[in-house]
Amino acid sequence: MSAKPEYLEFPRGFLWGTATASHQVEGSNANNNWAVWEQEPGRILSGHKAGLACDWWGGRWREDFDRAAATGQNAHRLSIEWSRVQPAPDRWDADALDHYRQMILGLIERGLTPMVTLHHFTDPIWLSELGGWENDRTPDYFQIYVRKVAGALGDLVNLWCTVNEPNVYAVYGYLEGLFPPGVKSLRRTLGVMAGLVRGHAAAYHAIHDLQPAARVGMANHYHDVQAANPNSPLDRWTARLISSLFNDFCPRAAQDGVLRFPWGRVRLPLAQNTQDFLGLNYYTREYCAFEPLRPGSLFHRRFFRADASISPTGFCANEPEGFYAALTWARSFGLPIIITENGAEDAADQFRPHYLAQHIAQAGRAIEAGYPIEGYFHWSLLDNFEWERGWTQRFGLWELDIETQERCKRSSADLYERICRSHQVPRRWLDGGDFSPFEYATDRQV
Ligand code: GAL
Repeated sequence: MSAKPEYLEFPRGFLWGTATASHQVEGSNANNNWAVWEQEPGRILSGHKAGLACDWWGGRWREDFDRAAATGQNAHRLSIEWSRVQPAPDRWDADALDHYRQMILGLIERGLTPMVTLHHFTDPIWLSELGGWENDRTPDYFQIYVRKVAGALGDLVNLWCTVNEPNVYAVYGYLEGLFPPGVKSLRRTLGVMAGLVRGHAAAYHAIHDLQPAARVGMANHYHDVQAANPNSPLDRWTARLISSLFNDFCPRAAQDGVLRFPWGRVRLPLAQNTQDFLGLNYYTREYCAFEPLRPGSLFHRRFFRADASISPTGFCANEPEGFYAALTWARSFGLPIIITENGAEDAADQFRPHYLAQHIAQAGRAIEAGYPIEGYFHWSLLDNFEWERGWTQRFGLWELDIETQERCKRSSADLYERICRSHQVPRRWLDGGDFSPFEYATDRQV
């Protein structure tokens, strides 16, 4: 048997990018539910607000797209802010659409393939006042907005993400109370997830009506959940329950048109086969133990592996094997896979290089095993507003000083550049042990 090659190779045409979201980077978003939420005391850590964010609405996207292009990236995932495009139910803002058009042209001019998300956590205030995603008519409102956007930008955009992480939106907003509207109800959480699947399906069909060749999917957040004690049937049961409700509910409905509630199934034929690719957001793996006294949290307790390396503010454990499990889950849908988010918060950039290298190595391992992975978008290009964690978490390849708007490159940006340019990573990164990221030559011809 011949030895395995020293490098894991990524295919020609692979998309290497970073991901961002409108509210987190644009600044001056005053007409969505987060702008309202941020005014309420105690909602955001340290009382932070998105404020000017990265000032993309003020034009600083230009310099940041320059940074992405100059460091070997060839794609970028950004999102459109619904509340800007449709500030009131009966009003469209042509200037806002034109602003997005300029941004997308800006990506293309720099050789960055755009991937556009249509809903990334924020809702227009008028929609929240109508009950948000609990209102049965919201999928139709969403479809009308999506038609408008696809009509205006479809000649420039071929890759669309309808909804970002419907499971996270619903669980944070309606079960854990961390996102607006701060509700804590399992029944309502699942109702919102179902509403978002309906919205996704409506958007999928709207885009394909206008643009038959477009590729449309969702960004599915997969949280790897393992039984704390694999020999305990109860730990296994609870891990399966959490995983199927959180990870499977939305993408499975978008595959076979069935919503699987704990209390029964509902058919949703319109949602069947509504993903052209499986968008995967992965951050970490957790272990799950059965807890008889915690019915409110579905009889479970979750924690990181005791000896795992944890990111500086505790957002994620570095669990590259969990990423391989996530990719294996993604492959089971039989669709091309695009990694729409993966990253870690680390202002000092000590943890991130290991996390980045080891996760991309797992993607390389999966590609070698035949997984149809087409792209990787790191979260994120630069530090941005991290929802209820405010500015306390720094996910950027570039550091942002929010007072001065100065950007400062972290060394992970150099590491990522080498990967993007060479389309390969050393196989030894799979083992983590011998981690010396800067050894191989850049600008390899592929
Ligand atoms: C994801 C989300 C992103 C970003 C990231 C890190 O769930 O889609 O917007 O916030 O987590 O917190």
